[in-house]
This record gives sequence, C-alpha cells and structure tokens, in this order.
Amino acid sequence: MSSSSPSYLSSRPSAAHRRTQPPRVAAAAAAPAAALHRDAAMDPAPTPLPFLRFVAFVVIVCLGILQFLPATHVRHPADPHRNWIPIESFMNESYSVSPLGKSGASGGQNSEVVTSNSEEDGMLHVVSWMECLDLRLLAVLANSTLTSSRNPDLIYFHFFIPGGSEDKRSFYKLKVLFPNSHLEIHGQEKIQELIRNAMFPLEPNYKELAPFAIPMIFQSLTKFVYFSSDLVVKGRAEDLISLDLQKHGIAAAEDCSKRLTDYVNPEVLDAIQRSDARPWVSDTPYEKNACVPNLSVLSIDARNLRKDFLRAVSWWTTVLNLNKSAGENNPALFLTLYHNYTKLSSSWLSVGNEALPESIANKTVIPYDGPKKLCSALGAGATLQPERGDLWKRYLPPTSSQMLGQ
Ligand SMILES: *[C@@H]1O[C@H](CO)[C@@H](O)[C@H](O)[C@H]1NC(C)=O
Ligand SMILES: *[C@@H]1O[C@H](CO)[C@@H](O)[C@H](O)[C@H]1NC(C)=O
Ligand SMILES: *[C@@H]1O[C@H](CO)[C@@H](O)[C@H](O)[C@H]1NC(C)=O
Ligand SMILES: *[C@@H]1O[C@H](CO)[C@@H](O)[C@H](O)[C@H]1NC(C)=O
Ligand SMILES: *[C@@H]1O[C@H](CO)[C@@H](O)[C@H](O)[C@H]1NC(C)=O
Ligand SMILES: *[C@@H]1O[C@H](CO)[C@@H](O)[C@H](O)[C@H]1NC(C)=O
Repeated sequence: MSSSSPSYLSSRPSAAHRRTQPPRVAAAAAAPAAALHRDAAMDPAPTPLPFLRFVAFVVIVCLGILQFLPATHVRHPADPHRNWIPIESFMNESYSVSPLGKSGASGGQNSEVVTSNSEEDGMLHVVSWMECLDLRLLAVLANSTLTSSRNPDLIYFHFFIPGGSEDKRSFYKLKVLFPNSHLEIHGQEKIQELIRNAMFPLEPNYKELAPFAIPMIFQSLTKFVYFSSDLVVKGRAEDLISLDLQKHGIAAAEDCSKRLTDYVNPEVLDAIQRSDARPWVSDTPYEKNACVPNLSVLSIDARNLRKDFLRAVSWWTTVLNLNKSAGENNPALFLTLYHNYTKLSSSWLSVGNEALPESIANKTVIPYDGPKKLCSALGAGATLQPERGDLWKRYLPPTSSQMLGQ
C-alpha cells in the first residue's frame, strides 16, 4: 500500500512538469520543441486504476487521523538547532517567562549581558565549571543544591561547559530533569582567553582560576556561590551568600591539614616579602604555619575582588618558579589570597574521597561518589571512573540517569 501510493502521487508532478515546459522551450528553438510536443502527444496524462484511487484516499485519511494523536515532543521556537525535546518541560509557563527563557534557551551569544545585576534580581547565583562534560555530576550538584535549599525557586545555576550555549542537548536534558529551575549553560572560551592572556607565557590551570575570572567577563555576576562540579551539596547555599565577607572578595573554608610552607620554601618567601613591595606581597612576614584555603566551595563578591588578581597569580607563579607544579593546590593562589579571605565554617570543607562516615556526618559538602568520565590529557577517549558509593543515587535516581542518556 505504501509502495503504490508514492508512484501514483509522483506521476502528477512529472506530468505537470512536462506540460509547462513546451512554451518556454518553443521560444528558444523550434526543433527541440517539436520533439517535446511529439513526446507529450505519445504520453497522454495517466489514468489511474480505480483501486489505486481508493488506496490513496485511505492513505490520506490515515495521515489525517494521525494529527489527532497527542504530541509528545516539541521544538523551542527560539532554538536555532530546533532540537526535539519532551513536551513535559514546556508545560509550565515558567519555562518561557523566566529570565532563562531569554538567554539559556536561545543561544546566549550575548549571555554576559542578559542576567540582570545579581544583587538586584534577588536570585541566588550558583556557578560551576566542568572541563570534561559529564551531566551526571551537574545533575547531582544541581539536585542536591536545590533539595538542601530553603528557597529552591531562587537558585539560578550557571554551568560553564566545553560545548557552551551551543550544546543544546545538554541544556535540554538538564531542563527535563529540573523543569522549574533557573539554569543557564555558558561556554568557556572567553574565560579561557582572559586567563590565557593574563597568565602568558605560563600554562594556566583554567579550572582553578575560573571562579575569579568569570565575574570579570560576566560583570552582572557580582555576588555568587561557586561549587566545584564534583560535589554533593547538603548545606544551604543561601547561608553562603548571606555571609558578611567583611570587605574581602571571597570566602573559603580553611584546610589546616595543609600549611603554606608545605608548598613554598619559607626562606624564599621571607626574602620576597622583605624585598618586594608589590600590592599583592604582604607588608608583614608570612606566617609559616598558615592554613591554606580550599577552593572547592567559594562565596564571591566580585566588587571586592582585586582587579589585578590574575596578574598577582601570574607573578607569584613566575617568581616562585611554580610553572610545573601548578596542579590542584596552587600556592600562587594561596599567596594571592593570603590573609585576604573570609573563613567559611569548616563544614564547608570538602573531605577527601577516603573519608570515614563519621567525618562526613556533619559536612555540608561531600565529594561526588558516582561514576564519572575522566579528562584524559589528550582530550579524546575519556575513561570512566567507577562509582565509589551510593550517595549520588539519592540525587540521581535511575530514571533521571536514563534521561541524561548515561
Ligand atoms: C509545573 O510547576 C508546578 C509548580 O510550580 C509543579 O507542581 C508541576 O509538577 C509542574 N509541572 C510540570 C509538568 O513540570
Ligand atoms: C611554563 O611551561 C610551559 C610548558 O611547560 C612553557 O611553554 C613556558 O615557557 C613555561 N614558562 C615559564 C615562565 O617557565
Ligand atoms: C586584599 O584585597 C584588596 C582588594 O580586594 C586589596 O586592595 C588589598 O591590597 C589586599 N590585601 C593584601 C594583603 O593583598
Ligand atoms: C579541597 O578539598 C578537596 C577534598 O578534600 C580536595 O580534593 C581538593 O584538592 C582541595 N582543593 C584545594 C585547592 O585545596
Ligand atoms: C556533629 O554534630 C553534632 C551536633 O552538632 C556533634 O555532637 C558531633 O560531635 C559532630 N560530629 C563530628 C564528627 O564532628
Ligand atoms: C532529586 O533528589 C530528590 C531527593 O533525593 C529525588 O527524590 C528526586 O527524584 C531527584 N530529582 C531528579 C530530577 O532526579
């Protein structure tokens, strides 16, 4: 049935084509026109068999009836890629009228100007940065933050992922899980460019510098909370934002299992302190047993963040010849922040992966323990780290995990 109907339908356009051609060709040359006329005369309009007419009628009626089935997927009119996404997430008006509707869903080439001043819009902005995209981690971070918050409606996520606002699929997958939440996906290029230029010729660690560079590009993000993407949040994000930063640009939890002098030679530090008067060098000798800040959870007030922050980090990295050791715990950052941050309660200090259950009990942030993709040095072929625990499943049940296509 389906094979016969196209042949019937297709004979009509070709007949019409033949009918319209002769006048045009006749004007140009008589001989080919005559040939065409002869051709048309020898091939009269087809007379379809009566039963084929009936088959076509049935096909058309069936196609008509299909229209009455309920729709399951829709495409957002503002989405240039016109991806199909489940209709459930469009049922709520909030999708299109939230601030997100303007930017998050519609590309956001100008995304740095769309969010209104974060002080004034009354939203609690939560920022995270992810080097290798793994939506499970972002879903767990978002859901645990929302579940722990007293005002989940006011939480506004800004996730910086490699694909950025071009990555509609990731955006919609998260949007399907959290249809009512404010969520924006941003790219990383502009931030990386800023960091690269500020740190040249050093090779920067974008992830650790991103929280400080983001407000320089996204100037509307004046006050926000930064969470490392591999965290389960059990505390209230609003406690972090309502904190008085006492004129400091950031608040961070202190990690006293590590000391400044574990990373830098105290004599070198003393010599630098005595001989250099740069604004980011302390006026008084450095405390040798100073604890170091942990940068997994931050409360940031960009207005108090020093404008020469990246230059200071770059300077410390060069002067201490730390080029090669700029790994997870960067002493150049510790020195730039030295005595210039507010201390968060120790419950916000994330524990190590091997922590005992007792030490986790009172924590407001816990490391993500689910499976995750690892960034390989070469970028391609990310490998999978197996899960270490069950906590992540509480915030990402199997049905949700399936939605993410993982
Ligand atoms: C729409 O939002 C309301 C409350 O804001 C919620 O109860 C409902 O489940 C949502 N519906 C869908 C389809 O997401
Ligand atoms: C830092 O290391 C990178 C590559 O390892 C190198 O290209 C760069 O020149 C180094 N910078 C300094 C100041 O040593
Ligand atoms: C602390 O930061 C402020 C700006 O945020 C800056 O003016 C001040 O010099 C910094 N203090 C030190 C010791 O670096
Ligand atoms: C912060 O703490 C986490 C968990 O203990 C650790 O993995 C990370 O390296 C620490 N970061 C810094 C900058 O100390
Ligand atoms: C956790 O908090 C409770 C009550 O605040 C306290 O009694 C307990 O000692 C704390 N446990 C740890 C491991 O700090
Ligand atoms: C978020 O976490 C809650 C509480 O653990 C869970 O019941 C819910 O299913 C999760 N939501 C999603 C979308 O996975």
